[in-house]
Amino acid sequence: MTTLNLIAIRDGESNGGFYSPAKEKAAIRGPFHHRLHLFRRLRHVAKLKLFLVLFTFCGFFWFFSRIPSSLGWNIHPSSSSFSPSRGGYTVLINTWKRNSLLKQCVAHYASCHGTDAIHVIWSESDPPSASLTDYLNKVVIAKSHTAHKPTFKFDVNEEDNLNNRFKPIKDIRTDAIFSIDDDVIVPCGALDFAFTVWQTAPSTMVGFVPRMHWLGEKKDTHASYKYGGWWSVWWTGAYSMVLSKAAFFHRMYLDMYTNQMPASIREYVMRERNCEDIAMSFLVANATAAPPIWVKGKIHEIGSYGISSLKDHSTKRHKCVNDFVSLYGTLPLVSTDVKAVDARKEWFW
Ligand SMILES: *[C@@H]1O[C@H](CO)[C@@H](O)[C@H](O)[C@H]1NC(C)=O
Repeated sequence: MTTLNLIAIRDGESNGGFYSPAKEKAAIRGPFHHRLHLFRRLRHVAKLKLFLVLFTFCGFFWFFSRIPSSLGWNIHPSSSSFSPSRGGYTVLINTWKRNSLLKQCVAHYASCHGTDAIHVIWSESDPPSASLTDYLNKVVIAKSHTAHKPTFKFDVNEEDNLNNRFKPIKDIRTDAIFSIDDDVIVPCGALDFAFTVWQTAPSTMVGFVPRMHWLGEKKDTHASYKYGGWWSVWWTGAYSMVLSKAAFFHRMYLDMYTNQMPASIREYVMRERNCEDIAMSFLVANATAAPPIWVKGKIHEIGSYGISSLKDHSTKRHKCVNDFVSLYGTLPLVSTDVKAVDARKEWFW
């Protein structure tokens, strides 16, 4: 009844017809036969319009109430898209003398549905102790929620070399590598979402920590670049790298980094003890001629602030970008401002 009245009033307002007091007055003032004719006509039009509005209204109501089932829009829990048949990912943890962080990190990633295997890159002169190995093996089994338990392995390197983290892995079952530092925790939901983004673009680097290169002032004839940290990305929304401290990439890049990338770049990384992540970003950008993908997701850094908070860190990073540009003879990085978000969590379009 209320709906009917509302529609009738609206109808009267919009066409200035039967229910408008102003129109009624005007009609009464005119000659009688004309008035009657107009009155009938308006009543006819108003009835027809009212009928059409109601019909449309009911039609919409019926249509929207039936959409989900008629189009097969059944809501699945998010974990269903990570069935083992579609393959999961191998978590590659880079660690260095921080066993308590490593224990937390392994326990967390073992609990994520998509984790097929966990490899820890060990770069110390002493191999991991039997008790640590034993402990971590047990943690992986205990924390895993899936029937298929992730495999756990140490990849032991005697020398401390930052390039170790990108050595090809022999017994690996997945194409997807999730590369992580031992003090970075990405919640499983965000991790699984990033994995689905990577599956849509498997040759791209997909990650949580974006960085940018900025054009600085010209030195001689060469352009010089500046490495843009968190603030510059936050301010401008532009980025051209995602760091390997929390990123997915295809396993083929491990082989390319170790066996195809110019040795001078690996030597540079080893000498400077820095910038292996920038080197990987250059490698992928050069291979794809495309930007990486930044995925929305909160990550937690559980350790103390690492080298990235030291003052000469940013000077080193600027230098790496410029030195890699010289070594490549060109700048392969491609910038973008695209960010991947989980549409289920975005309420407003
Ligand atoms: C960059 O990519 C090109 C084309 O794929 C390749 O020929 C070249 O060797 C790459 N450069 C470096 C420094 O890896």
